[in-house]
Amino acid sequence: MPHLSPSRIQDHTCRVVFNRECGHGLKLLRLQVQPGAKFACQPGQFVMLDLPESRFHFRRPFSVLDTPTADTFDLYYKRVGVGTGIMWDLQPDDTLNCLGPLGIGFTPPTSPENALYIGGGIGIAPLYLLAKHQSAAGHCFYGVRSQAEVGLEAELQTVFGDNLHIATDNGSYGLHGNVCQLLEAQAQTVSAAQEAYVCGPMRMMQATVELLHRMNPAIRVQVSLEEHMPCGTGACTGCVIPRVDQYLPSKVCVEGPVFNASAINWQGELLPASHFCEERPCPL
Ligand SMILES: Cc1cc2nc3c(=O)[nH]c(=O)nc-3n(C[C@H](O)[C@H](O)[C@H](O)COP(=O)(O)OP(=O)(O)OC[C@H]3O[C@@H](n4cnc5c(N)ncnc54)[C@H](O)[C@@H]3O)c2cc1C
Ligand code: FES
Repeated sequence: MPHLSPSRIQDHTCRVVFNRECGHGLKLLRLQVQPGAKFACQPGQFVMLDLPESRFHFRRPFSVLDTPTADTFDLYYKRVGVGTGIMWDLQPDDTLNCLGPLGIGFTPPTSPENALYIGGGIGIAPLYLLAKHQSAAGHCFYGVRSQAEVGLEAELQTVFGDNLHIATDNGSYGLHGNVCQLLEAQAQTVSAAQEAYVCGPMRMMQATVELLHRMNPAIRVQVSLEEHMPCGTGACTGCVIPRVDQYLPSKVCVEGPVFNASAINWQGELLPASHFCEERPCPL
């Protein structure tokens, strides 16, 4: 995995360029960093937005969707609570602070033409940036609840063309079902892939990883985890995730948010102390 140089993390003062609705409860927010500054990131990295509301203790994390110019970046977000409700009302020329880019992003595919990008809802955001930077299109599997939530279809179409596959839970657009059913319907494509990239709700990612490994045991899968992140910088341990390969859990904000799927303990259990003491040298 590529490593982030701490010197590149900055707290930018950003100006809102636009905050455009692009689906039911979904918006595309373009931010411009302060004059003279630049914003560059690896696909899969995220930012922590300091929303203009004094009662918030914590910033809110968002994946970078795109970096259209050297000094702008786009976020694709869903209105879910108080913070994203405040984001929803941001107007052009409003300003807000934004820490980033943060975390460790995706390792790019070795075989881009066969790579699978599998997104659930707003989980499509970091996958779009990754796919856009590859030399060949790959295949995109995009699952949402209904047609009204198929945001970014035109942008995804530009990158993936005919390799864009959409499923809706209620059958109002594309395949009637979820991303797992979409993958099952494209068994040959899944079998030919060397790498898959998954982002979405935890349960969707777990089911997708299990299915991918059943359909193609040799496939290498990276997941981007959208855990709760109070600080986003490794200071609070509010984002830890248990692993199967080590006793100590990982902090998603600094060791991720991208992980190899096989390193995650998807059942959410920490390893028992016996594993820690008997099978591994004590790190303490
Ligand atoms: C690395 C990362 C990347 C993300 N990328 C995106 C993205 O591209 N687009 C997008 O719409 N959302 C993204 N999220 C989720 C986004 O951070 C939350 O939806 C947002 O913080 C909710 O804020 P709120 O104040 O509106 O919600 P709240 O009122 O605080 O809570 C509403 C809901 O949001 C969930 N939530 C609250 N805080 C967080 C948090 N820190 N992390 C995850 N879920 C949270 C809660 O479980 C609850 O269901 C990402 C999260 C992480 C960790
Ligand atoms: S969010 Fe604070 S340590 Fe990860």
